[in-house]
This record gives sequence, C-alpha cells and structure tokens, in this order.
Amino acid sequence: MVAVMDAVTARACANIALVKYWGKRDALLNLPAAGSLSLTLAALATETTVQFDEALEDDELVLDGKPADAAETKRITAFLDLVRAQAGIPIHARVTSRNGFPTASGLASSASGFAALAVAATKAAGVELSGQELSVLARRGSGSAARSIFGGFVRMHTGTASEDAYAEPIESPLAERIRMVVAVIGGGTPKLHGSRDAMDHTAATSPMYRAWLELVPKDLAAAEAALGKGDLERLGAITEANALAMHASAITARPAVIYWRPATLAVVEKVRGLRGCGLAAWATMDAGPHVKVLTTADDASTLAMQLRDLDGVTAVTISAPGGGAVVVEGDR
Ligand code: PMV
Repeated sequence: MVAVMDAVTARACANIALVKYWGKRDALLNLPAAGSLSLTLAALATETTVQFDEALEDDELVLDGKPADAAETKRITAFLDLVRAQAGIPIHARVTSRNGFPTASGLASSASGFAALAVAATKAAGVELSGQELSVLARRGSGSAARSIFGGFVRMHTGTASEDAYAEPIESPLAERIRMVVAVIGGGTPKLHGSRDAMDHTAATSPMYRAWLELVPKDLAAAEAALGKGDLERLGAITEANALAMHASAITARPAVIYWRPATLAVVEKVRGLRGCGLAAWATMDAGPHVKVLTTADDASTLAMQLRDLDGVTAVTISAPGGGAVVVEGDR
C-alpha cells in the first residue's frame, strides 16, 4: 500500500532586519558571522502546504501557482532532507507555496518561505519541534528565516554551534505603535544578485567588510537598549545607519553589488526630508531596490501618501508587526 500522509499548511510573515545579517561564518550550516535584529511584518505573509507521498519519485514545488525551476526545487529538497532525517522517513513531498508579495525581489520571501516550510514540513512529517528548534531548522534554509519563526521584534543569536544559532522574540514598549511602510520600486522585478552569493562576495572582496563586522555587535547592543527603553528615535537612527553600512560594504565589493535604483535614493531622500519636518521615519533597504520605512501608527498614512507620489514607486503598503509562524490547516 502507498502511504500518503496528511497535508499541512503553515503561514509565516516576512521580517525586515533593523540590524542586518550580511555574511556567514559557515556556508554549509548557514551560520551567521554576526547577530541581527528584525521586525516581523503582518502584511508580507507566505502560506505553504506540504504533503509527503510515497507515490512521488522526487519532491515537487509549485511557487505562486507555477512549477518551480530545478534550482529552486533543489534548495527545497536539501531542506526537506533535513526534515526527513529528523523524522526517519524517506518519502518525497509535494510543496505548494504562495506569497502575498513579489517573490525574490528583496522583499524577504526566503524568510517567510523557509519559516512556513519548516513549520509545515515538520508537522506533516510528524516531528514536534520547539520554537527554538524550528528557528534553527529554518536557518538552514535561509539565515533570515530563523527570525520569521517569531512575531514582533526578534533577535538572532550568532551562537557557538548550529544548535544555539537561533532567534528569539524581544519584548518592547514600542511593539504596539511601530509600523513599517514598504515602498516597492520597479514593480518587484527579480533581483540581480541573490543575497547568499552577494554576502559571500562582499565578505571575500570588500575592504569595508571587516568594519561592517565590527559595527554589528555595537548596533545590536544599542538597538536592544533602545527597544528596552521604548526609544524610537534611537532605534530609527540605528536602523537607517546600519542599512547604509551594509550597503556600503556591498557597494565596495569588487565587482560592486549595487541594489539601489534611482527611485531607491529618491525615497531615502524623501524620508530624510520628512523626518526633518517632524515625521517619525527611518529608511532601510535589503538585497533589492525597495525601501522599508520604520514609522509609527500615527505617521504611517501621511508617509505612505508622500511616498506613493514619487516616480518609480509602484506600490506602497503599510504593515503592522506580524505574529510568529503557525499551522493554519491540517493540525492533528
Ligand atoms: O536570509 P538571506 O540569506 O536571504 O539573507 C538576508 C539578507 C538581508 O535581507 C539583506 C538582511 C537581513 O538580515 O534580512
């Protein structure tokens, strides 16, 4: 008889780093060279369904309604192999994943994708893991996915080995009033340099990389202190400066990794101008052209309205903090 296990669907939200992860110390185990700190966003969610089925000869992946290419499927198979090893089952799986935002465009789809996959695949394989263990597993898929297991503000630990390189949520008096405005630039076209290759290339060739690694622990300590005190001004200043430092290291890699488009800088300039006029607004950018702006519930709509008018900005979304990754269907 052919065994088909129950399908399980999980939902996870993307997160945006306020102190970035940019560089690995171990490529195989996907261990970060330094810690990081992020905010999980309710508006950027991924839903992933996993079903293990003995009738399958290989893993199958359908991404946003289309069969995925060989490279994408290979990455999912490598991840599912970890789950199969933990569950002691040799069975292939059918994986269906849907993003509520543009995939592979620097909007952190790998974070929500691998967090949702970790939760759905372990549940579907009958493996019970703690939040910490799920975070370790999700990290193997993508470093930032370790943070999407949890909601709100999240701190990623460097760890000393694989088991203690996990994320955990941080409480802050800012959690209620914080918002992020996401300005999509250029219609969410696929990014030119994947973050994995780009961070390795930066580490190998940028004369600024050492300075970046020295900066991160300082920014982390200051950001955590600001979160503890509810000091938004301080958190915002660290967020914007840290993103610019990460990009400085990428831009000075040889050859250069430049994620910004002219509209990226137009948004950054606007954000800085509005801040000068008293609005709570601090910009951050990742491995793509989009700008995410840290702000408050009070200022988010004014800010969104101002950014929508800029040339090259194709969509603007306001997001509240999101929750952690959860099973939404197939819980047994
Ligand atoms: O998780 P990865 O391998 O896609 O790397 C994420 C890198 C950044 O988004 C640029 C920074 C971060 O901390 O999320």
